[in-house]
Amino acid sequence: MILVTGGAGFIGANFVLDWLAQSNETVVNLDVLTYAGNRENLATLDGDPRHIFVQGDIGDSAVLADLLTRHQPRAIINFAAESHVDRSIHGPEDFIQTNIVGTFRLLEAVRDYWGKLHGDAKQDFRFLHISTDEVYGSLAKDEPAFTENHRYQPNSPYSASKAASDHLVRAYHHTYGLPVLTTNCSNNYGPYHFPEKLIPLMIVNALAGKPLPVYGDGRQIRDWLYVKDHCSAIRRVLEAGSVGEIYNIGGWNEKPNIDIVHTVCALLDELSARLDGHSYREQIVYVTDRPGHDRRYAIDASKLERELGWKPAETFDTGIRKTVQWYLQNQSWVANVQSGAYRAWVEKNYSGRSA
Ligand code: NAD
Ligand code: TYD
Repeated sequence: MILVTGGAGFIGANFVLDWLAQSNETVVNLDVLTYAGNRENLATLDGDPRHIFVQGDIGDSAVLADLLTRHQPRAIINFAAESHVDRSIHGPEDFIQTNIVGTFRLLEAVRDYWGKLHGDAKQDFRFLHISTDEVYGSLAKDEPAFTENHRYQPNSPYSASKAASDHLVRAYHHTYGLPVLTTNCSNNYGPYHFPEKLIPLMIVNALAGKPLPVYGDGRQIRDWLYVKDHCSAIRRVLEAGSVGEIYNIGGWNEKPNIDIVHTVCALLDELSARLDGHSYREQIVYVTDRPGHDRRYAIDASKLERELGWKPAETFDTGIRKTVQWYLQNQSWVANVQSGAYRAWVEKNYSGRSA
C-alpha cells in the first residue's frame, strides 16, 4: 500500500481518486482536516476498503510511528501543507509549523521506519515530496522558464516554507540515504479546488453576482496545469523517477491573470449566462495588489518529458472548460465549503483592498 498525506485537499484528493480508479493498491490517507481538507472530496470512496482515512497531523510523531508500523507502506507521497500565499502573508506561523516542522517530523518518522526495512522493501521504498515552482522566485518577462537547476529564491512565507521543506528532503537523502523524489509543479486548477485561489474564486464569485477581484494590474503570469495531469506526472515519477532527483512539472501554459479571468467569464457567459444578458466581465474589479507579488512563474518540464516520457493530456482550453463545468454541476459542494470561516477569510483578505 501507499501512504498519502494531505489527501483530503485539492490535489491530494484528486490524486487518491485517480489512483484508486487505476489500481487496486490501498491508500492510507493521513490528513488533519484544516479548513482546506474536506472529506466530501472523497465521498465517492465511502465504504471502499482500498481507502483508509486517518485524521492526524504530519507533525505528530506518535501517529506517524503507529501508522508506518501498522501499514508498512511501500511509498509515501507528501501533499500535506498550508498552501495559500495570501494566508501566509496574513499569518505565516501555520506555514512554518506544517510545511517545515511537519515535514521534518515526517522525515524523522520515515527515516526510522525505512532504516528497519530489509532487502527489496528497503531498496524499493520511495518518499515523494510534492513541492511548487514558487520556490524558484519570480521571473522577468523574457527570462527562460525554471529548470530544476534554477536557484531557490522564495519570496513569500508560503514559498519560503516550501523551500525549507525541499531542503530538508534533500538533506535526508544526502545524509541518511533516504530514497526521496521531489516534484516542483506549477499552478494547478480543476475539480475540488478551494475557492480561495484565483480560478475557483472567480467562478464562485461570478455566479454569486459578487465582484471579481484582480490584484494590481492583472498582468502577473502563472503557468497553469490541469490537476489530473499533475496526478499523472506524480504517478510516473513514483514509478520511474531516479532517487534523489528533482522533476519540474508544468503544462507549458503561461497566462496573465486577467486573461484567465476573461476566459472564465466567457465560459460562464456561454454555459450559465447572467439573467440580465450582460457579461460576467462587468463584475471585474481591480483591487490593491498582494504585497511582494511574484510577477511571473514558468516551468520548463522538459526533463520529465525527456527522461520519463510524461506529457500533459489537457490543453488549457479543454481543462478550463472541464473545470467550469464541474463547478456548475457541483453547486452543493461549493455551498458546503463556504462556511463561516470561509466568509471570515474573504472579509479579512478583501475588505482592506481598495478598488
Ligand atoms: P490544499 O491546501 O488544498 O490541501 C492541503 C491538505 O493538507 C488539506 O487537506 C489539509 O487538511 C492537509 N493538511 C494541512 N496541514 C496538515 C498537517 N499538519 N497534517 C496533515 N494534513 C495537513 O493544498 P493543495 O493545493 O492540494 O496542495 C497540495 C500540495 O501541493 C502542497 O504541498 C502544495 O504546496 C503543493 N502544490 C500546490 C499547487 C497548487 O497549485 N495548488 C501547485 C504546486 C504544488
Ligand atoms: P493563487 O490562486 O492564490 O495562486 P498563487 O499565488 O500560488 O500563484 O493566485 C494566482 C494569481 O492570481 C496570483 O498572481 C494572484 C492572483 N489573484 C488575484 O488577482 N485575485 C485573487 O482574488 C486571488 C486569490 C489571486
